[in-house]
Amino acid sequence: MAYIEMIDSTKSYKTGSTTVNANKDINFAIEKGELVIILGSSGAGKSTVLNILGGMDTNDSGQVLIDGKDISNYTSKELTTYRRYDVGFVFQFYNLVSNLTAKENVELASEIVENAMSPEKALEDVGLGQRMDNFPAQLSGGEQQRVAIARAVAKNPKILLCDEPTGALDYNTGKQVLQILQDKSHIDGATVIIVTHNGMIAPIADRVIRMHDGQVKSIEVNENPQNIADIEW
Ligand SMILES: Nc1ncnc2c1ncn2[C@@H]1O[C@H](COP(=O)(O)OP(=O)(O)OP(=O)(O)O)[C@@H](O)[C@H]1O
Ligand SMILES: [Mg+2]
Repeated sequence: MAYIEMIDSTKSYKTGSTTVNANKDINFAIEKGELVIILGSSGAGKSTVLNILGGMDTNDSGQVLIDGKDISNYTSKELTTYRRYDVGFVFQFYNLVSNLTAKENVELASEIVENAMSPEKALEDVGLGQRMDNFPAQLSGGEQQRVAIARAVAKNPKILLCDEPTGALDYNTGKQVLQILQDKSHIDGATVIIVTHNGMIAPIADRVIRMHDGQVKSIEVNENPQNIADIEW
């Protein structure tokens, strides 16, 4: 059995009299330790998939199997435990706490689990060992995104979910951030899922899931994912 499986998962949102079918019969499987890219244009349903996988939202029907357990049946308490111990989330716009330093932002996450990395080590790993005592406003966008990644990985999560992690970054900083995420999968063995609309980065993934209009259109497996240094966009 695959490590992560979505089986016939559907989700719709109602606002007033309109209903949006954000996810329609989503099916895919992901193996442990893979780097996966979910690709699709705006409104395709990518964030909806990611939020459901991360236990931040729930589907209407279908199964969401994580390591053999169906989290779509979880109570909100079970989901909180799952989010806390198993999942690291990197948001598009960093979501750092502005009146806490970089180190304190990472501590927020590392303090809630046992066997966490030290905030210092997590920040050193993303190249911010010298900036630990800076507040978010004193850091560039790319540096803030790296703090957000340090915060997500400090918990040593089994699953790292990243929603447009390079969306707000320049080309080279984006590459740096992707390298950190690819290393988390290929070196540390975490299962990393990146949502993006940028098809040019697909060759770095072990698996590419293409979405359109709330549905999965294709799934490709890359036997030889490319190095980030070797791709251009
Ligand atoms: N909380 C919500 N309430 C109402 N509609 C929603 C909600 N969340 C998402 N939607 C709708 O569901 C559809 C899929 O949204 P989703 O955020 O998953 O797309 P996406 O692929 O992540 O797009 P983007 O690339 O723009 O972030 C969209 O039409 C969106 O408007
Ligand atoms: Mg989105």
